[in-house]
Amino acid sequence: MEAAAQNPQSTREGRIEISGLRHVYKGGTVALDGVDLSFGTGLFGLLGPNGAGKSTLMRILCTLLVPTAGQVRVDGYDVVAERDAVRASLGYLPQEFGAWRLQRVEEALDTLALLAGITSRGERHERIGRVLEEVGLAKVSDRKVKKLSGGMLRRLGVAQALIHDPKIIVVDEPTVGLDPEERLRFRKVMADLSQDRTIVLSTHIVSDLGSSCSDLAIIDAGKIEFRGSPADLTEQARGRVFEVDLEPGTNPAGGGYEIVATTRVEGKIRMRAVATTGTLPAGASEVDKPTLEEAYLAFMAARGRADAAISRNLGGEETS
Ligand SMILES: Nc1ncnc2c1ncn2[C@@H]1O[C@H](COP(=O)(O)OP(=O)(O)OP(=O)(O)O)[C@@H](O)[C@H]1O
Ligand SMILES: [Mg+2]
Repeated sequence: MEAAAQNPQSTREGRIEISGLRHVYKGGTVALDGVDLSFGTGLFGLLGPNGAGKSTLMRILCTLLVPTAGQVRVDGYDVVAERDAVRASLGYLPQEFGAWRLQRVEEALDTLALLAGITSRGERHERIGRVLEEVGLAKVSDRKVKKLSGGMLRRLGVAQALIHDPKIIVVDEPTVGLDPEERLRFRKVMADLSQDRTIVLSTHIVSDLGSSCSDLAIIDAGKIEFRGSPADLTEQARGRVFEVDLEPGTNPAGGGYEIVATTRVEGKIRMRAVATTGTLPAGASEVDKPTLEEAYLAFMAARGRADAAISRNLGGEETS
């Protein structure tokens, strides 16, 4: 191809462009109800409660599901008309990796690389070495897949998604069932990868997004309700996140709230909470810097959806 014919500013820079996207499942459930979103390099977080439409959107991006209406371009290619080109541009992290249990890590990746169309044995070997390094699994390349921990399995999923060096990686609910240490590790891998790739990460656990996430959207009932930076979201929480010191056994008076944390301070109970109505309880003071979790909860509370944000966001994590 002639260099002059190439446009360096073209949309083929790992961008995702979604407009007027709608998906209605058989039976009539409207899972996506007019979604417009576009983003490029870096970690893009798609946050939303149970049933919001996250997986539906991710499956459409990965060409696993044909949308009812609207347009989606992945790296410049249309997900319906140019399915193969989309697949070549993108890596998808599957929920599980069960079929490969009896193989060794390296063998499983070799097979997957072959399936991804990398026919040269030497090239596969070189790529496998590189992706294992990238996700921190080089030391266990000889281990049987079934002997990997949950966190290692998720990272093997990432290695698999990376094998053809895609510009875009799509990850749906990455840390379900992982312990806190593995979650941290996974976040680190995502942060590293997002330096020069587009990562779309959907989750209901705010902390999964990590500090490398600079751009996010909140989806609820198939609609994008917020789009901006974590700082923008935190800004919206102003006036809603508070602390109040209570005598043990008492509750704050006035105003609805959802408790985020309680600690004991000098014989009193210090409660940190998010107001679900516009007013703070008596004696409460607004906190200076709400966390992103609190900001998300406050945002959902303002829309009368605190329950949806909590049921799986604060209470849904395994603590054992
Ligand atoms: N195969 C399907 N057939 C019919 N309805 C479906 C199907 N998959 C999802 N839905 C419905 O579409 C809506 C969106 O579901 P989706 O799985 O996209 O949500 P989600 O945000 O991924 O939720 P979760 O956090 O629970 O994973 C829900 O109401 C769900 O019940
Ligand atoms: Mg889902």
